[in-house]
Amino acid sequence: MSATEKPRATTIRDIRQKKGREPIVCITAYDVLFARLVDQAGVDLVLVGDSVGNVVAGQPTTLAVTMEQMIYHGAAVVRGVTRAMVVVDMPFLSYQIDAPHAIENAGRILRETGAQAVKLEGGGKRIAPIVAALVECGVPVMGHLGFTPQSVNTLGGARVQGRGDVDEARLIEEARRLEDAGVFAIVLELVPATLARRISEQVSVPTIGIGAGVGCDGQVLVLPDMLGINEGFAPRFLKHYASLAGTVRDAVQSYADDVRARRYPDDEHSF
Ligand code: KIV
Repeated sequence: MSATEKPRATTIRDIRQKKGREPIVCITAYDVLFARLVDQAGVDLVLVGDSVGNVVAGQPTTLAVTMEQMIYHGAAVVRGVTRAMVVVDMPFLSYQIDAPHAIENAGRILRETGAQAVKLEGGGKRIAPIVAALVECGVPVMGHLGFTPQSVNTLGGARVQGRGDVDEARLIEEARRLEDAGVFAIVLELVPATLARRISEQVSVPTIGIGAGVGCDGQVLVLPDMLGINEGFAPRFLKHYASLAGTVRDAVQSYADDVRARRYPDDEHSF
């Protein structure tokens, strides 16, 4: 590729073709600065998760996140990404009501953010036809099974899903249903590793795990969590790849010390 040629954005075809060949790397981002960095780091997928409600806005759940907020953050992320594929979460009750409502909202997300796909939660008999309707309208959809945070009140907390024969069979059935509905990938969140591997083997679309072991076709992590900014959040599946909370605190502390001591601004930083 020449220096002036714009790199080709990753497509759902690229993502699907990675299954069985190489692991898919996905990470969340919510603003242009981090979006640019994760894109430069070479991830395949950038997810504008509705976890923005938790990690950016400090809300206890994702339920209060709105369409306007997802569009605002989605558009910011798209501005920072040239190479990876950008997927935006559809917020709570923006798709569950019926297919026309979901199509309207997914259309707004794609049009107003420039993202290539949406993600939505669930694979039950109500959701799957809505997914199929979206796909039929040309909206690429990523599914999300296992612990689905928008159902936290129904599930009784952030707990591992798919334990026991009945739940296991239900999750496999939901994954197959989503595959039939036309999703291009499925996030598996908080699922026992053996079950996640079985699902990954039984569906033709890639699975992207979070707290689902190594048998998935790819992995996703929430960026502030893996960077160690979100102190105090340390579920078993999370690996910290940096400890940015301390770095940020130290930097701001040094700045505050300099200002109070009148060391900053100095001649070098003045006009
Ligand atoms: O909202 C989010 O960040 C997500 C990931 C945890 C998969 O859905």
